[in-house]
Amino acid sequence: MRKKEDFYESAQKLFQPTFGNRPMQYIGRDGVIEQFMAGLKEPVGSRNRCTLFLGQRGMGKTALLLELNDRAQKEGYVVARVTAHEGMPKAIIEQLQLNGSKYFDDEKKKLSGVTAGALGFSFGLTFSEAAERQYGFRSKMSLLCDKLAEKGKGALILIDEVRTSTAMREVAAAYQELIGDRKDIAIAMAGLPYSISNLLNDSVLTFLNRAVKVELGPLSTNLIRAYYERAFKSIKIKVSDDILDRAALSTRGFPYLMQLIGYYMIQYTPKDGVVTDEIMDKAKKAALADMDDNVFKPILNSLSDNDKVFLKALAHCGEPATTSRLQSKLGRKGPAIQPYRKRLIEAGVIESPRRGELVFAVPYLSEYLQNMD
Ligand SMILES: Nc1ncnc2c1ncn2[C@@H]1O[C@H](COP(=O)(O)OP(=O)(O)OP(=O)(O)O)[C@@H](O)[C@H]1O
Ligand SMILES: [Mg+2]
Repeated sequence: MRKKEDFYESAQKLFQPTFGNRPMQYIGRDGVIEQFMAGLKEPVGSRNRCTLFLGQRGMGKTALLLELNDRAQKEGYVVARVTAHEGMPKAIIEQLQLNGSKYFDDEKKKLSGVTAGALGFSFGLTFSEAAERQYGFRSKMSLLCDKLAEKGKGALILIDEVRTSTAMREVAAAYQELIGDRKDIAIAMAGLPYSISNLLNDSVLTFLNRAVKVELGPLSTNLIRAYYERAFKSIKIKVSDDILDRAALSTRGFPYLMQLIGYYMIQYTPKDGVVTDEIMDKAKKAALADMDDNVFKPILNSLSDNDKVFLKALAHCGEPATTSRLQSKLGRKGPAIQPYRKRLIEAGVIESPRRGELVFAVPYLSEYLQNMD
């Protein structure tokens, strides 16, 4: 019989409901990944080599960038993965040097004596003192791209939590210049729909308008169900087909929620035990409580009071809500609705599946709003 610690150790790895981690098993999004990976094989500067992934909190932006990181490495790319903070340009350079250095190990050995390195470099990917001092981000990137190309490598920049900033402008401008010089470089960015819409108004970043924009939607619940089945089996927890269906459907394809529900199902089920309906109910309740704190509250905090009034009215309309029904709930006439509708669609909080109809884009947000008052 397995020791208790072993059980919890392996169980813990299966579901990790935190943000920014690498899931034990990456589920779905094959099309999105393939499209970006195919872009890396296209000529330098082609549109697919500059992609912007948009998604709500917990929709799996960071996890996707981590997945692209691994796949691109296998395809011969040296990857710099950063968040869009002020020190980003420097961090990109450092990451490329760090992650690319293993391809230059032989040079390090050869140059252990004092020998002149390639132009701008002292050895491997380490800049000469003069280059380090004199060159800015763009020139350093250019040198690094050339050096990596000698080993048949390209450079991929992954930027998480994209937003308007001086650093972002610098990187965007450099990217354009580098592809102008035919350097083998590609860029994938991820961010909340709202931050991106502000960012796209920034004239310096018009190149982002040309980036391929990919909205990250829910995962397939069939794939989630299959993962749940395998995961529970691997730790000998028994789950009926009905409960597997319930668990998968309860996630509504939302990656963070799929981690939470799986996690709590294990937490509430004894070792070698059976998941009952009661355990499933309890797990779902606990998962949704975490969603309140980590998804719904942050989304609502970023909105105005009037946006919230609009959303509450929408929640009480039932889905899909027609514009006319929403108007009567709000007690307002016509055009007043339009600015909220537009902004909240841009913010990725609601969407319009058909003309004149609105639904929530974030699972369970409607229920959360209904229960608020
Ligand atoms: N395709 C996937 N398969 C399995 N798990 C996933 C997948 N995508 C995301 N997850 C998991 O869901 C959780 C949330 O994902 P992630 O942190 O990537 O969200 P995010 O969109 O970056 O959120 P935020 O906007 O708050 O940064 C993490 O635990 C992550 O491991
Ligand atoms: Mg993230």
